[in-house]
Amino acid sequence: MTEKRVGVIGWPVSHSLSPAMHNAAFRALGLSDWSYELLPIPPDIIRQGLRELREEGGFIGINVTVPLKQAVMPYVRPDERAKAVGAVNTIVFRDLSATNTDVPGFIGDLKAHDIRLAGQRVLLLGAGGAARAAVYGLAAEGAQIAIVNRTPEKAQSLISSLGVNAEVVTFEQASEWDAALIVNCTSVGMHPNSDASPWDESIPFPKGVTVYDMVYRPQVTRLMQQAESNGGRAIGGSGMLVRQGAAAFELWTGHPAPVEVMAAALQEALHKEKA
Ligand code: ATR
Repeated sequence: MTEKRVGVIGWPVSHSLSPAMHNAAFRALGLSDWSYELLPIPPDIIRQGLRELREEGGFIGINVTVPLKQAVMPYVRPDERAKAVGAVNTIVFRDLSATNTDVPGFIGDLKAHDIRLAGQRVLLLGAGGAARAAVYGLAAEGAQIAIVNRTPEKAQSLISSLGVNAEVVTFEQASEWDAALIVNCTSVGMHPNSDASPWDESIPFPKGVTVYDMVYRPQVTRLMQQAESNGGRAIGGSGMLVRQGAAAFELWTGHPAPVEVMAAALQEALHKEKA
């Protein structure tokens, strides 16, 4: 039985929780010849690194994380979604096909939480890579989108380059925009800066709104607390992480991913980190 290797490239990758999720999934399905590894690769040797994994390492496929999601693109065959988002997070080496499973991971987790998107008003905080994937997915679902960002020009150029219908608003306008859903696509509030929130306390927080925070360390962020103390609902980003991984798992193995097993493994890994 030849070993079936997959893994995640990044620089650094030591904090990745993907090995815990995927290796638990392999165990649960009895795929004992499969293993998921951490693969640190510095950006300046990405081309050679990919070739070595594919030709010498015998890897079936890989995930790609920061700062390599754009850098791998010239050396693989990105699908339309990855091209539009401008970032690849999953590669299948057999045909060098590459995609972005952050988009279905995000949209799939919203749907798993029974959040309706078509025609709904969705406010995004941030205009970086994560926001780009979110706007792409939300626009495809027919949501009505507004973006607020520290640097408004970046929000405008994100919208123009994706060619979607969305508006750029200030925080004051965002406060009154009547969003049904607010999504944090910034890294503000992430461990170790867990006292910080992308929503400044001086701006009134909308009442009764659902917040989805892409941050998953800590599992309850300051922003999520703000939503809940204003009568709203709060969802952390761990489900998106699970579902982007599950989509990659299915592309590599051809088996339906055991999503609940992966979610439980992620929870266990997050708890171990805290201990
Ligand atoms: P990612 O790929 O995770 O989205 P990114 O492309 O660096 O990372 O984008 C980070 C986002 O978080 C940006 O929207 C950034 O705002 P700017 O466009 O103004 O830089 C936002 N961000 C990061 N740190 C922030 C902070 N301290 N306050 C407000 N916004 C911040």
